[in-house]
Amino acid sequence: MKRSIPDLLQAEQPLVMVTAHDYPGGRHAEAAGVDFILVGDSLGNVVLGYESTAPVTLADMIHHGKAVRRGAPDTFLVVDLPFGTYHTGVNDAMRNAVRVIQETGADAVKMEGSTPEVLQVVGILTRNGIPVVGHVGLMPQTATAQGGLRVQGKDDQTARRIVEGALNLEAAGAFCVVLEAIPARLARLITERLTVPTIGIGAGVHCDGQVLVTHDLLGMSEGEEKKIAKRYAEVGQLVREAIARYAAEVRSREFPTREHSFVMKDDVLDKLY
Ligand code: KIV
Repeated sequence: MKRSIPDLLQAEQPLVMVTAHDYPGGRHAEAAGVDFILVGDSLGNVVLGYESTAPVTLADMIHHGKAVRRGAPDTFLVVDLPFGTYHTGVNDAMRNAVRVIQETGADAVKMEGSTPEVLQVVGILTRNGIPVVGHVGLMPQTATAQGGLRVQGKDDQTARRIVEGALNLEAAGAFCVVLEAIPARLARLITERLTVPTIGIGAGVHCDGQVLVTHDLLGMSEGEEKKIAKRYAEVGQLVREAIARYAAEVRSREFPTREHSFVMKDDVLDKLY
């Protein structure tokens, strides 16, 4: 059964969030019983093959969000607002968030940052009934301006900005806040100060919940295991091995066998000669 926001806010066990970007991803995440699913704009990296999340469009998010919702009709669904869709004024942000909610069937949207402009958008959306998940720490949409994809908040100045950002997001109406790639002790302090749940990725064990990009946890992403993600399977390797075995069997005519072929009666065949 789909969890409600009050239910998520009162959870006693750590909350579990994973990303999904397509119909099978939604189905598997729902069957595994996660608390909520995020259609993250990590879509850009792990599915669409971009080097960053910046090129991901609203149309991409809506297309993939709809597919995930078809696979996971009974799980709380959060869809990322991609880069540029909430940065050109509150009217544009509201219009784009409404499209995401109406067209995908999502329960909430997520956006990165805690600038005064973003806080204003969070306030308008939540006052108009669109639940918002905040996101501070490393923010992949603007990672270039943050010095690259690296841990944030290691010095007192940036750490203080992240704490204030999280507090301001809660005050603006965010019902939970993602903390990405920050020291565990900083995440603990933020978690203690917020009344809404924190959801960590690369933020240590003290958050109220955890989120991972499913492609990372399944071993389907490019490259080495990332510091912020644990691999629970080597699905990428299994996929490569299976396709290579299929290719070998086609080339050696081992596949298809009779088992995978359809029969035709002799008298029907005779009429064709
Ligand atoms: O886009 C995404 O998948 C995310 C998670 C890493 C939190 O924002």
